[in-house]
Amino acid sequence: MKNTYQSARGVRDILPDEQPYWQFLRRTAESVFEALGVSRIDIPHLENSEIYTKAIGESTDIVGKGMFTLVNRGDDEAKNTYALRPEGTAGVVRAYIQNGMQSWPQPVKLYYLGAMFRYDRPQKGRYREFYQIGLEIFGDSSAKSDFLSIMSAWQILKKIGLNDVIVYTNSIGCPKCRPKYVSKLKKYLKNKEGKLCPDCKLRIDKNTLRVLDCKEEPCQKATSDTPVILDTLCPECKSHFQNTLELLEYFGIRYDLDTRLVRGLDYYTKTVFEICEVSDKTRQNSLGGGGRYDELVSMFGGAKTPAVGFALGMDRIVTLMQENKVDVPANGGVDVCILQLGEKAKAAAKKIYDILSDESVNVYFVPSNDTLHSQLRLAAKLKARIAIIVGQTEAMKDEAIIRDLSASSQENLPVKYLAEEVLKRLQ
Ligand code: HAM
Repeated sequence: MKNTYQSARGVRDILPDEQPYWQFLRRTAESVFEALGVSRIDIPHLENSEIYTKAIGESTDIVGKGMFTLVNRGDDEAKNTYALRPEGTAGVVRAYIQNGMQSWPQPVKLYYLGAMFRYDRPQKGRYREFYQIGLEIFGDSSAKSDFLSIMSAWQILKKIGLNDVIVYTNSIGCPKCRPKYVSKLKKYLKNKEGKLCPDCKLRIDKNTLRVLDCKEEPCQKATSDTPVILDTLCPECKSHFQNTLELLEYFGIRYDLDTRLVRGLDYYTKTVFEICEVSDKTRQNSLGGGGRYDELVSMFGGAKTPAVGFALGMDRIVTLMQENKVDVPANGGVDVCILQLGEKAKAAAKKIYDILSDESVNVYFVPSNDTLHSQLRLAAKLKARIAIIVGQTEAMKDEAIIRDLSASSQENLPVKYLAEEVLKRLQ
């Protein structure tokens, strides 16, 4: 047999059957963000790779093993390498500074939707091209914005019918208090070095905090009595975290403290969080994650600006929606389908089509010589709610039959009242 082409490893097609879930998720996120006054931003899929190295950190898995870099073709910019975006935060921070958003009224709240790329080992819920919905809030240092980030992610998940989710949260302090904790942790880990996985052995010096979040069982066991970061937070970080938790509690968001949660990207300060299914106790397949990153704008050359945000993984969320058989609104479809029988009826049907189109009704009409039965089948396939049927008799009387396709009831109506009736029924 002839070999046919296959998609590259770790990337996939999203076929029409799956699209209603994606569309429902996208639309829900957009309506949640719009209600909160968040504006959309689209950023490039590729950027100079140094923005990711600088923001996410050289010693992280994402930059160390997970970036798709593209080498330039030797033009003027030959020194730059591009990378396909592994996440959205670094690009949005670059855009915030580059487009002078620091002089806009603060806070500036931005959301984005789109594909990200990571050279991960493909498996269920882990792709090399995957999709995120993200929010970034700039210019507010108060716990209100930490809460707003978590709350909007929570609301999106609730509104699409995922109720069994929990927010795990922690605070990883600021440049004032974190170094004290890191040196304490380093000392503790040096004593356990022999029991740690090869990656964690390297992490002790390069990325100490990440040892806490290692999913390898021997590492988790060996570090079960590790010092807790919350005990060494400075008063400012402590009260910020306390305020965030109080807001979560007040609004009934289900959360749990997880003092080992440190996140796999270096830019975070203070609050960090991940949102998981309640059954995902080890946070293997988080549905989303985020946190505060008060140092990143200034690291990128902007004025010091507090910021916080999150990203949800759309692929994992859609899989969960499918597994939980979430009810999604039917995708696309038309509202009204016009069916006609006979030559005279064709002209009358075209007139009705024009009237309804002028009223911006989502209407389908293609003249046909098919039987009424097969035209009704087509209307069902198009998911029409209403069929308008015109036969020779109706055409002569300037009337049409209006048929409710779900109730299978119908009545005759003069054409002049048709638009009004259709609009009333579609409301
Ligand atoms: P992240 O935790 O790296 O955070 O990614 C967020 C979500 O993207 C994850 O919780 C997961 O659902 C999804 N995800 C990550 N990698 C993959 C993959 N290979 N396949 C499928 N889904 C994946 C960030 O990206 C930060 N930029 C979030 C943020 C925004 N922090 C502050 N602002």
